[in-house]
Amino acid sequence: MKESNTNFLDRNEFNYAPSQKVVDALKNFDVNTLCFYTRIYDEGKKSIFSEFLSELYNIDETQILLGYGGEDILKQAVHFFLTEEDGNKTILIPSLSWWYYKSIADEVNGDTIQYPLFEENDTFKYNVQVLAEMVKKEKPKVVLIASPNNPTGNSLTPVELETILLQIPHTTQVLIDEAYASFISNDSSYIKILVNKFPNIIIIRTLSKFYGLPGLRMGFGFMSKELSRFSSYSNKYLGYNRISEAIAIAALESDEHYRDIAAKMNEDRQAYEEELGALPGFKVYKSAANFILIKYPIELKPALKEAFSKENFKIKFMDEPGINTHLRITLGRQEQNRKVIDIIKSVATS
Ligand SMILES: Cc1ncc(COP(=O)(O)O)c(C=O)c1O
Repeated sequence: MKESNTNFLDRNEFNYAPSQKVVDALKNFDVNTLCFYTRIYDEGKKSIFSEFLSELYNIDETQILLGYGGEDILKQAVHFFLTEEDGNKTILIPSLSWWYYKSIADEVNGDTIQYPLFEENDTFKYNVQVLAEMVKKEKPKVVLIASPNNPTGNSLTPVELETILLQIPHTTQVLIDEAYASFISNDSSYIKILVNKFPNIIIIRTLSKFYGLPGLRMGFGFMSKELSRFSSYSNKYLGYNRISEAIAIAALESDEHYRDIAAKMNEDRQAYEEELGALPGFKVYKSAANFILIKYPIELKPALKEAFSKENFKIKFMDEPGINTHLRITLGRQEQNRKVIDIIKSVATS
């Protein structure tokens, strides 16, 4: 299948164009820079990007993590904590969440336990009490929270997140996957408050979703000061990819470009809710991310598959227990979203 003809709405990628600043950062990148390692390590810093993030988020540079995408920071953290000397290999992850969490725990023989998300009207919800009780009983080494969660699309407010953190003992490390968080709000001031209040948390973000650069492979995180043992494990003595650093800074300096696109996605999210939500047997879940979860009558599966494939659209037909009569569709460009809605409507009403 040729990439250019296919509408990829199956992996929460970015179907718009990068900002002009990003394009210019790549065009104007001085390739001679690549002949040398960065010297910023001599100043006690990891990268020009961690220095930039430190100013932007007003968080000490030593509390910033960088990685090859959010996935890399998640993998490093899960591997690190589940193989510490205390031998505690238990990790709690949300049910109905990204398959990757269990997979990285499996790589180090972790014991994965799922805590439930509860379906309520048109959303899924965390239940603080249930989670707190499971933490008390299982005494996990790691609890993973995803907000917004993939594929359900539900998210936590900073206050809800803090309520959960208050219930978790400091011997348990909390990884908060915020890969999709910038779609909810551009207020990230709570991050500084939380990483300075709690000694056991890591908040992970990425350039791949809101900033639309999954091919850049750049993720970043914020951690409690008390976790310096993890940052020395994670740091790269010889630095990071210098092209990616320059592009990442340009992307974060182009907030307006990406906010405009997020606003368009918001309009389309509403169209999904109104138009598909009205079809018999369909339910469109509230989403705080760049994808939308839709329950559909399972008997339409073959016809939907055929219709999408005929029009060169890739979307995700979920098959996990609990959400196996569901589609997860990435919000693409407006004309792509229009087409998806029309395809589903024509299959549902034929
Ligand atoms: C929930 C979630 N977290 C993290 C990621 C990691 O993305 P990346 O490694 O590109 O930053 C993804 C990618 O799809 C995701 O769905």
